[in-house]
Amino acid sequence: MKLVLIGCPGAGKGTQAKILSEKFDIAHISTGDLLREQVAGGTPLGLKLKEIMASGGLVSDDIVEGLLEERIKKDDCKNGYILDGYPRNVSQAEGLSKIVGELDSVVVIDVPDDAIIERMSGRRSCGSCGAMYHTKYNPPKEEGVCDKCGAKLVLRADDNPETVKHRLDVYHEQTAPVIGFYEKQGIVYKADGSQAIEKVTEELTSYLEKI
Ligand code: AP5
Ligand code: MG
Repeated sequence: MKLVLIGCPGAGKGTQAKILSEKFDIAHISTGDLLREQVAGGTPLGLKLKEIMASGGLVSDDIVEGLLEERIKKDDCKNGYILDGYPRNVSQAEGLSKIVGELDSVVVIDVPDDAIIERMSGRRSCGSCGAMYHTKYNPPKEEGVCDKCGAKLVLRADDNPETVKHRLDVYHEQTAPVIGFYEKQGIVYKADGSQAIEKVTEELTSYLEKI
């Protein structure tokens, strides 16, 4: 199964992709996570990426495409994968067709912009295993501590309200047109991402079981 998840920042792509990848035994590939790994490595490329990502802009297509191509070759992708955060513009979508051929489905998680700032300010992620929480909608058992591995929960550098607003603008200008690109292929499913996390999972699971 080859899936693409599209949604604005904070739509719940990472949250749902993690759950669905376990349910359907396919890999979860987040280009944001791949880029953050580079940043954490502190390489010269990482330092350059850090600045771009903190500003809320997009990293250049060739860098992200290179990371994606390497990731897709790994063994855990043999059964399929969910792409979370890729493609981010029409040129990446065109490039993706050349790399992987036809996709099974493109799922759009729809959430209105006004719900996003609150979601982002409450997001906490585990600095060690990447598990995701929300202070109100999905709190950890112990404040500031990951349920899964016990490591400290951290805020993402790009989750301050100003950067989130810019990320939303970038989404509407550059990423939303990707939906039209795939609509022409008849493979888009739109899910209501403003429901509770479990409800969104239910909706997506019942859709994916049918394709
Ligand atoms: P990336 O990491 O992809 O970030 P993003 O698209 O901005 O999306 P987020 O990860 O912030 O949100 P999400 O949809 O995953 O939501 P989540 O599940 O965490 O990209 C970061 C940066 O990397 C980009 O700005 C860019 O610079 C660069 N980049 C990445 N890919 C690139 C590409 N292809 N090309 C160029 N540059 C690229 O949920 C958010 C919060 O809400 C959590 O706290 C969660 O618990 C909570 N939540 C989730 N669902 C619900 C719900 N239904 N109800 C209530 N709360 C919910
Ligand atoms: Mg994410």
